[in-house]
Amino acid sequence: MNSFPVSENVANMHASSTLKAAQAAAALRDQGVDVIDLTVGEPDFDTPEFIKEYAREGLAKGLTKYTSSAGMKTFQESIAEFYSNRFAADFAPSEVVASCGGKQALFNAACTILNPDNELLIPKPYWVTFPEIGTFCRAKNVFIETEDTDFVLTAKQVKESITDKTKLLIINSPNNPTGRVIPHTEMRKIVEICAERNVYVLTDECYLFFAYPPAEVFSSASLPKELRDYVCVAGSFSKTYAMTGWRIGYTIANEEWSRAMVKLQSHSATHPTSFVQYACAKAMQNADESLKAVGTMLTEYERRKNMLIPALNEINGFKCSVPEGAFYAFVDVREMLGDKFKTSADVAEFMLRVAHVVVTDGAGFGADGFLRISYATSMENLENAVDGLKSIFNKTSTQIV
Ligand SMILES: Cc1ncc(COP(=O)(O)O)c(C=O)c1O
Repeated sequence: MNSFPVSENVANMHASSTLKAAQAAAALRDQGVDVIDLTVGEPDFDTPEFIKEYAREGLAKGLTKYTSSAGMKTFQESIAEFYSNRFAADFAPSEVVASCGGKQALFNAACTILNPDNELLIPKPYWVTFPEIGTFCRAKNVFIETEDTDFVLTAKQVKESITDKTKLLIINSPNNPTGRVIPHTEMRKIVEICAERNVYVLTDECYLFFAYPPAEVFSSASLPKELRDYVCVAGSFSKTYAMTGWRIGYTIANEEWSRAMVKLQSHSATHPTSFVQYACAKAMQNADESLKAVGTMLTEYERRKNMLIPALNEINGFKCSVPEGAFYAFVDVREMLGDKFKTSADVAEFMLRVAHVVVTDGAGFGADGFLRISYATSMENLENAVDGLKSIFNKTSTQIV
């Protein structure tokens, strides 16, 4: 048989860069080695019990049939009401489209605006999926360097990157992988600059509530209408409410953009699971309980962060600033590169082989020389990982084998 003729759109995409590390870790595990996995991109908490109960209630009510492609009315209304109460945001329920996770929200938004050869602005480091979406849409990915501003995107950087071909900017704050948060005043300036040049902004708010004070929780859905008209917010229940497997998210965008996304979605996933939409609508209505659950998780992430970051900085060759949000430490290991380690991937490989600690290499995020370490895992795992890494790196260089 001839090899399968994969479409160009898909052939041009890259498989997830985290896959390689996961495979190497799995191979070691198969040999009976106890591997500490610090690659995880999902909460280690279970979904709050009251949300599970709402899903059971939805099932008991017989919510097992198709809903509208935009999602149930009650889902759209509950999102609008939640954002109105929490962020003083003012948008209509019809500007909300339910999707199968933040990922589908991002795909819906990008695929309904990008034409071939449009320029898609992507700040570096980026979440691995962003350039792949651009590639799939046959847009031209244009990267914005942000290291000069400590990986916090600025309006100035955006302004300097816009050309006549720029159509869309993708932003993720709080950020995966850097843990950086864009202050809301800067976010507003970014959208203003884009709106002036007729450039749209897709803001991935999948880690929305995971900002550690004094960093602020800010949603671009609360921008005034004339700016919000240029914005599509991609929201998700996955991380915030520890619901990664439920596959539910949403977009908040102007009516026309929303209608285009509904059209696209009506020919693909149709809508996310009906009783899951119901559970999420109820969770949004019960905002106090939902925000309390988020607060409990955030407190634990913060406790781990407070232990982990100083400990990582005690490892020779590791430089790590304090994350302002999300649940990742982004470690600069460029000081270690030279004869022994040519790239950060070599450092990651050494950590796995010798200390049995698996982390994600920064290259997949457009940041060669960095490692992403997830603290969505137990304190015990984190402490064991740090001990293991100290034992291999805090030796004289001749001792490192
Ligand atoms: C930055 C970012 N955006 C979006 C997603 C998608 O999450 P989901 O599709 O589960 O909502 C992820 C998941 O890792 C993420 O890290």
